[in-house]
Amino acid sequence: MSKAENLWKGRFVKESNATFTEFNNSFRFDRRLFEADVIASLAYCNALFYAGVLTKTEAEKIQSGLKTLLKRAAYSSSFFDEMQAEDVHSFIEAKLTQLIGETAKKLHTGRSRNDQVATALRLWLREEIKKIVSLTIDLQFSLILSAESNIDAIMPGYTHLQRAQPILWSHWCLAYFEMLKRDRERFEDNFRRTNILPLGSGALAGTNYEIDREEIAYELEFDSVTTNSLDAVSDRDFAIEFLSSCSILMMHLSRFAEDLILYSSQEFDFIELSDSVSTGSSLMPQKKNPDALELIRGKTGRVFGHQIALLTTLKGLPLAYNKDMQEDKEAIFDTVDTVKSCLKIAKIVIENIKLKKEKMLAAATKGYLNATELADYLVQKGIAFRDAHYITGQIVLYAINQGKELNELSMDEMHLFSEAISEDVFDYLSVKKAISNKNQIGGTATERVAECIKKAKDEIRKINPHLKF
Ligand code: ARG
Repeated sequence: MSKAENLWKGRFVKESNATFTEFNNSFRFDRRLFEADVIASLAYCNALFYAGVLTKTEAEKIQSGLKTLLKRAAYSSSFFDEMQAEDVHSFIEAKLTQLIGETAKKLHTGRSRNDQVATALRLWLREEIKKIVSLTIDLQFSLILSAESNIDAIMPGYTHLQRAQPILWSHWCLAYFEMLKRDRERFEDNFRRTNILPLGSGALAGTNYEIDREEIAYELEFDSVTTNSLDAVSDRDFAIEFLSSCSILMMHLSRFAEDLILYSSQEFDFIELSDSVSTGSSLMPQKKNPDALELIRGKTGRVFGHQIALLTTLKGLPLAYNKDMQEDKEAIFDTVDTVKSCLKIAKIVIENIKLKKEKMLAAATKGYLNATELADYLVQKGIAFRDAHYITGQIVLYAINQGKELNELSMDEMHLFSEAISEDVFDYLSVKKAISNKNQIGGTATERVAECIKKAKDEIRKINPHLKF
């Protein structure tokens, strides 16, 4: 294996300490920026030509060399292991020099690894943001499908993890649809601040060469160029924003996982998870464990950790670039991998879930989930809500002592508490009525939820016409 020369060796007389070199090098992880860095270099090479730094022949030679490197990286599995390097930037320069000779040494004119790495990271991340948005849409798509095909499924809704009021399963699905929608919006917003070009900022103060930064931005499809070189090389806000958007997304996925873990337990028994996303126990033969969901919940912690880590890394840094900032990459790379895999797994889980609709309905019918309905019934009969609440509380207490549900009480028993109650109360106490009465925007009435499903489908279709409902 050859070794790339240090880009800064001129001023040094002694060799680097081997343990330090290992500590300092980032190539083992920042090689992921290879393609982005080469693409940025292709554009930079053009800019150097237009600035009169490179002749046409030199620029063409560098560009064809860079393109050859791109191809080799794509086709040869050992490409990155052929050479030891400090970081991806040194690697590319050394490889290019090996390939085309001395001309390669002109490519770094007026450029620093500081503006280079900021550029490569933004280029790389913006593509990953697009992929994450697309996977988020895929999960939203599956949630809509489950909502649509199970529109008849009724289950208990919870507060404090106590049965509260009946809701539709579809309503639950669309709650997560909404969260993911906000996540998408956050990523789209984050994208705008990521897609700004720092190249041309030099090490910190700008560049001496007539580099047309706007032309580079145009070529690389950045929306604009940074306006302060000091800020440009030391800014990692876009990365922190990304980690923060990912943290919120993971928090949503973790709640989704937690809900489903509970629903799949014998205590709830509302759903059955597919064998394909569950595991067994090495000891207890009866076990079917929700590992896929537990891992989503568990991996949320590491994404939160990366966000705090990068914030902490940056908080004490004097302007401009400091080597501390090399720590941004592993946080971002691991977050990207984690979020992408969790989004994919969440989709597989929801697509393969089996609902136990009878059990869900039975749970929604037991445990006084219709008590609020009774209070609302009394309000309709002219009783003030606070009094209706009290009377209903008394009726519930009585029913509990009798071991009956509210709809199992006789008219005489009801009259012990209020003369305002008549036979029509039983219709009011039914689960179906409890659902259909929640008929304002945002409520769980079937009609409302069906409307939301339609809207959600239109929204997703607009973004990605290939997703067929
Ligand atoms: N590997 C470095 C990083 O990721 C590249 C920039 C190094 N710049 C420097 N002046 N040492 O931050």
